[in-house]
Amino acid sequence: MDTEPFREDEGIEAQPPEARSEPQSRPVGIFLIGFLGVCVPSLALTALGIIHFGSRSVRQPVEFNHRKHVTELGISCDTCHSSYQTQTFSGLPKAEDCAACHAEAQGSSDKERALVEKLKRGGTLEWKRLFAQPPHVFYSHRRHVVAGKIACATCHGGIADTTSPPRQVRKLAMQDCIGCHLKSKVSVACTTCHR
Ligand code: HEC
Ligand code: HEC
Ligand code: HEC
Ligand code: HEC
Ligand code: HEC
Repeated sequence: MDTEPFREDEGIEAQPPEARSEPQSRPVGIFLIGFLGVCVPSLALTALGIIHFGSRSVRQPVEFNHRKHVTELGISCDTCHSSYQTQTFSGLPKAEDCAACHAEAQGSSDKERALVEKLKRGGTLEWKRLFAQPPHVFYSHRRHVVAGKIACATCHGGIADTTSPPRQVRKLAMQDCIGCHLKSKVSVACTTCHR
């Protein structure tokens, strides 16, 4: 797991959701043709709670401990996920962000020692995505966090209190988005989220 080179083309920075949200690049016509076939039955089924949306198994390059960094050390989310201030995405930390503190060991755990050695060798950290929407969905962190003032935990639950990365994380399902939009009196027109 330590020998994989960083592949720029797989990183969140290299393909921000922003790039996918260009109106010209969206197959809206094809999407709407698929609507009658796929959507009506699927909406009906999700309303009954029959479809459970995809959860896949994930293993991260380092067993990162959110609780230790956020709760015990008081490090803010922004230290590692700050892009939401200006972008549709929040971003995941690069090795340099960890090296800001872990260029030298801060403690005596084996886990940290392994990380420090990896960083000294110039190793990179290629995080696997846990939350990800399909490409036909437009979602913006800036809009929700900065304009809408919605707390991270509203959508990401207790991740900040986990001691190791969740193995399985469910994406936000359409009814999660629509449920809150209805409560908040935000548009639920199909083209609000599917562009
Ligand atoms: C602002 C400073 C800071 C940053 C940035 C930071 N850490 Fe830490 N980290 C610490 C401190 C302090 C400890 C506590 C060391 C101890 O007491 O064992 C720690 C502990 C750890 C440990 C060992 C303890 C455990 O429970 O897992 C690992 C592994 C770790 N950090 C990984 C990371 C990774 C990966 C990143 C980058 C995503 C990162 N850290 C970013 C300060 C930081
Ligand atoms: C010191 C760095 C650091 C801090 C501080 C931090 N995170 Fe993270 N976060 C990470 C790393 C590394 C990952 C990828 C590994 C994992 O899944 O745990 C991650 C993953 C996540 C993910 C899943 C991303 C995905 O792939 O979909 C969410 C959501 C998240 N963090 C939210 C938060 C929130 C909310 C806070 C503040 C309460 C926070 N993080 C603070 C480093 C950090
Ligand atoms: C209204 C719901 C919502 C809120 C609030 C929210 N997120 Fe997210 N987050 C999402 C969704 C949906 C995705 C998947 C986006 C995609 O795939 O395009 C995501 C993805 C992420 C990721 C994975 C990488 C990325 O940037 O796409 C991180 C990290 C993350 N969120 C951190 C945060 C942090 C930190 C906050 C608070 C500052 C926050 N989120 C607030 C819904 C939310
Ligand atoms: C917890 C509540 C909540 C959740 C969950 C939520 N939203 Fe929103 N959304 C809002 C609010 C509030 C706004 C308006 C923010 C503002 O501009 O003040 C908004 C605005 C938007 C907008 C811009 C609307 C417009 O008229 O331009 C889009 C697009 C959007 N949300 C998509 C999504 C998607 C996709 C999801 C699910 C992945 C989602 N939202 C989940 C509350 C939510
Ligand atoms: C507030 C945001 C939002 C609105 C409004 C919205 N959707 Fe969605 N939709 C999503 C998200 C997020 C997904 C992906 C997650 C999922 O499959 O639940 C999705 C998925 C879908 C899918 C794929 C379902 C599948 O099983 O793969 C179809 C089809 C769809 N939406 C059609 C529609 C139609 C038609 C409308 C208008 C009646 C609509 N959506 C309105 C957010 C939205």
